[in-house]
Amino acid sequence: MALRTAPRVRSDAVPLRAFRSKGRPSAIAGVGTYAPDRVMTNADLAKIVETSDEWIVERTGIRRRHLAEPGTTTFELATRAAREALQNAEVSAEELDLIVVATSSPDGPFPSVACRVQNELGVPGACAFDVLAACTGFVYGLSLADAFIASGRADTVLVIGAEVLSRMLDWQDRATSIIFGDGAGAAVVRAARRGAGFRAWCLGSDGRGYDKVTAGDIPRGAYAAHQAQPLIAQKGPDVFKFATDIFIRQAYAVADAAGAAIEDIDLFVPHQANRRIIEAAARRVGLPMERVQVNLDEYGNTSTASIPLALGDALKSNRIKSGDQVLLAGFGSGLTWGACLLEWE
Ligand code: COA
Repeated sequence: MALRTAPRVRSDAVPLRAFRSKGRPSAIAGVGTYAPDRVMTNADLAKIVETSDEWIVERTGIRRRHLAEPGTTTFELATRAAREALQNAEVSAEELDLIVVATSSPDGPFPSVACRVQNELGVPGACAFDVLAACTGFVYGLSLADAFIASGRADTVLVIGAEVLSRMLDWQDRATSIIFGDGAGAAVVRAARRGAGFRAWCLGSDGRGYDKVTAGDIPRGAYAAHQAQPLIAQKGPDVFKFATDIFIRQAYAVADAAGAAIEDIDLFVPHQANRRIIEAAARRVGLPMERVQVNLDEYGNTSTASIPLALGDALKSNRIKSGDQVLLAGFGSGLTWGACLLEWE
């Protein structure tokens, strides 16, 4: 039976902070996506690591993932998604006041991917920087856009999630190589035209879980001759439990802050990590799967790109109409989490 009241919280559970958007409202004006052409199926993976299509589909829901050609950079993927988002929003790049790129796989420690995207777009002047919050990064980026617009520091913001995770994978590690994929998604955020847009947020982190999903360390020796490739490692079952719990609690927290009920949510666009996590959370909050956007079968987990890729697919298939209440929710390494409820313009 569907649970419609907020679940009881364990006494050791980290408290969630949720708040209603204040100040000038902002809304998503356009979304763009990009996934590389190259596809790796589960059967392809089973040729290089001990696994099977059956196991991966049953335990994760993933069937394929798109991988960038060797040598491709994160900023290239980010720029492609950005151009499509600007076009769909009917906004010219010159109008941007702020460019935020969320990524877990930057092309290097610095300069930021955002500055490389800005250079590709040929629009010097706007503020540009990266956000590191792993798979939650895109929601954190949206919250920055909302805050900048609310406070009058920006009118038009480009938020991008982009990843070339394939270069950070140990292909022999079946706990991670089966999960991740490459891709990018972007959203143009502007002052809302008719008072709709972002309604409430739930953002947080719990550094006690810093070792649950990691990607290596930069060598600590001052003269490290060979910098090891940062490889992704995770404690899968621990993350699974955390993710399901945080999806459920965030959904209630953000709905409550917005003065809405779970039943009011027309579409839930979750971070695409594992179909079982998404289904368990949807079942517990009482959202039927018809109101949940899932595309991880095609892309796997693309970290910061996963929510905008799913949102883009939802828009392309006309699953969102003006006035719909849309819940975006993510979680990731850190541990981090973030959700927002928005009314589509
Ligand atoms: N193929 C075949 N068998 C596999 C496998 C694979 N790719 N990965 C693990 N197994 C085996 C294990 O060896 C284990 O075998 P055993 O019972 O004989 O010891 C069994 O399957 C179960 O392993 P377990 O790790 O408990 O699997 P799981 O059901 O928890 O699924 C994940 C593993 C990683 C798919 C799952 O834990 C998960 O998705 N966690 C969340 C990860 C996540 O979201 N990360 C991103 C954070 S943004």
